[in-house]
Amino acid sequence: MPRIETMLVLGIESSCDETAAAVVDNGRKILSSVISSQIEIHREWGGVVPEIASREHLLKIDPVVSEALDRSGVSIQDIDAIAVTNGPGLVGSLLVGVNYAKALALGLGIPFIGVNHIEGHFFSVVFENPPIEYPAMALIVSGGHTNLFFAPEAGKYELLSRTRDDAAGEAFDKVAKMLGLGYPGGPVIEKIAKQGDPKAIRFPIAKISDGTPDFSFSGLKTAVVNYLRENEIEPISAGEEPGKDVRDVCASFQDTVVRTLLKNTSKLAKERKPRVLIVAGGVACNEALRTASMRLGEKLGIPVYFPSRHLSTDNAAMIAAAGHFHLMRGERSDAGLKADVGIRLQNHRISPERSGKNLPYKV
Ligand code: KG4
Ligand code: ZN
Repeated sequence: MPRIETMLVLGIESSCDETAAAVVDNGRKILSSVISSQIEIHREWGGVVPEIASREHLLKIDPVVSEALDRSGVSIQDIDAIAVTNGPGLVGSLLVGVNYAKALALGLGIPFIGVNHIEGHFFSVVFENPPIEYPAMALIVSGGHTNLFFAPEAGKYELLSRTRDDAAGEAFDKVAKMLGLGYPGGPVIEKIAKQGDPKAIRFPIAKISDGTPDFSFSGLKTAVVNYLRENEIEPISAGEEPGKDVRDVCASFQDTVVRTLLKNTSKLAKERKPRVLIVAGGVACNEALRTASMRLGEKLGIPVYFPSRHLSTDNAAMIAAAGHFHLMRGERSDAGLKADVGIRLQNHRISPERSGKNLPYKV
């Protein structure tokens, strides 16, 4: 496989409720990144409705890709390869992106590659930080995932810890719903938590009984439900200012989530001694988590890399970056690429031999 010095990758992401496309130069420079969010549509239902999500992706994918190309200043003929999220995610949503990317790449006669969404979040830090040093450790925290990975070298991932039940972002969303704060829960809880006392209520940090370093958030959610009931705290209505009780619940809940996430991370980082800690995914927008992660990094004597906020939540630039990494190693997907809702990051390495025929592409 010849070494290619530069490559323009069109990234496409449609795994959940964002239709996104981006053009990335050489895996590190974002020429454009367009995100069409369905949050306003799903807000009405208090969470993502899969059928609505896939229909919206169908409506949006073509205009979003066109806009990404327009804003990038390059024409579609300049694109060298396409990277598309093929899992994990909602099947109907994933299929829209996968089929679109496949048809476009085959029509243009350029290579394409399926990217694991979680690996995309891992790569979201490459744009604004020094190059990732290995071994690296990555805490990927979003609405669908809470995983701690150890990456001994680029492209290899060992899952050290995962959630046994709810993802951290999901816990934010569910607690926000109980408090009448709407969807998505993370940003609104963070805002209200700023005016509350994080030590006001002692919510429990879950311990997994079989001794594994996994995360768990359903116990915390139940503890919040019980606290609200025992203290007769009602959900607030639209436009109502949250009282001290709600502010303290938000602050104490957020503090417990952060401590839960970093307890395992700290323990495993001391054992594994990574050279860098990556904190990515939608929940990485959270300032309390960022501050506590930085403090942990200082204690461990290693840098902590975060994506900026617009790259923390779902986007296609991170998919293009992860795709670029694999494409540069000569990996390709073929027309048989499927949406795989349960794909695991550890299984994601596609060898050129397994991925079928390598298509030539322009340099
Ligand atoms: O990565 P993402 O956009 O989508 C998934 O792959 O799931 O993450 C969305 C999640 C939601 O659960 C949302 O509540 C959470 O990230 N989130 C936050 C914050 N901003 C978004 N959680 C805590 N604090 C925030 N500021
Ligand atoms: Zn995500």
